[in-house]
Amino acid sequence: MRYLVTGGAGFIGSNFVRYLFNKYGDAAQVVNLDKLTYAGIRENLAEYEGKPNYRFLHGDIAKPEDVAEAYKGVDGSGVDVVVNFAAETHVDRSLMEAGTFIETDVHGVLVLLEEARKTNLTRFVQISTDEVYGSIDDGSFTESDPLNPRNPYSASKAGGDRMAYAYSQTYNLPVIITRASNNFGPWQYPEKLIPLFVTNAIDDLPLPLYGDGRNVRDWLYVEDHCAAVDFLIEHGVNGETYNIGGGNERENREITQKILELTKKPDTLIKRVADRQGHDRRYSIDMSKVESMGFRCATDFDTALRSTVQWYVENEPWWRAIKERSAEFKAYYEKQYAARG
Ligand code: NAD
Ligand code: TYD
Repeated sequence: MRYLVTGGAGFIGSNFVRYLFNKYGDAAQVVNLDKLTYAGIRENLAEYEGKPNYRFLHGDIAKPEDVAEAYKGVDGSGVDVVVNFAAETHVDRSLMEAGTFIETDVHGVLVLLEEARKTNLTRFVQISTDEVYGSIDDGSFTESDPLNPRNPYSASKAGGDRMAYAYSQTYNLPVIITRASNNFGPWQYPEKLIPLFVTNAIDDLPLPLYGDGRNVRDWLYVEDHCAAVDFLIEHGVNGETYNIGGGNERENREITQKILELTKKPDTLIKRVADRQGHDRRYSIDMSKVESMGFRCATDFDTALRSTVQWYVENEPWWRAIKERSAEFKAYYEKQYAARG
């Protein structure tokens, strides 16, 4: 199978490329198209550089010429499957500057879909998010529920999600859309809750918990997410949308407590800070659709969290390069957290 993976230098994309090579070996050909924004780290997949079935392409999904080049595949013969992970992904950043979210998460999807019309793809996977449904106090969203995004990130993702759907209906493109819940695991950029709190705890820095700490997220181990996407490439039905949840709903304060236990650090590191504007209270999705097709997440939450914390302990150089040597990260952190008090 010949894959075009976009955003493969990011967290989930790099895990997915590794998943493909681990599972399919040389039978998988992968082009990784990535703009290398602040969140893209080419070295995440350093072990595959130079292999004949892997090609890294530095480019932008919103630029037609970059996308056309990527669709040529590893060896010029084309691609069969596109998996679009490329996106601006951090809600807090979308509250500071939303323009790049529209450019990549909406317009970029359009450019990828337009190029797809010129090819014979067997599958185009648009990686969407459970955040497009908005917040829910009780019960869980199913795929047919209306979208109600409540922040610039989720609104942009909803735009890309529906654009992909529109191209499936209008042009009969073999599109499926996946809406996953909050991922965690190795190689997650340390701006998101779990890697930020784990690495801050290791350094005895405060853990800035927003608001009352009782917002709920459903945590999905990245390996389970990769397995679900791989499963749906094979078993998904064109034009359909699939929720992918972890079945692990937890309040943020509980996650924080577990991180402190696993890093053996005191509760006094918790710092209650000003809440996120428009902070979605709870995300919850019903994943019976994909489960009825035979997919099950394989990972136990506590085991996965323990191994994730262990990964950050063992890979200090990776995250220290970001937190201590990236001027962009330092400026972001200062701006984001100084304002919270
Ligand atoms: P990430 O921020 O770690 O990585 C994003 C990657 O996309 C980076 O490598 C970046 O360089 C690249 N990129 C950004 N703009 C680009 C552009 N214009 N052209 C090419 N590459 C570009 O993100 P992630 O957490 O790995 O998320 C991957 C996808 O999964 C996103 O579409 C996100 O919306 C979706 N998703 C994430 C989560 C989560 O919990 N992280 C949950 C559900 C869905
Ligand atoms: P995050 O990892 O940014 O994912 P998302 O907002 O896309 O769900 O945040 C997860 C939860 O953790 C969310 O409720 C916001 C909260 N949070 C904090 O309390 N403090 C932080 O410093 C961060 C980054 C997040």
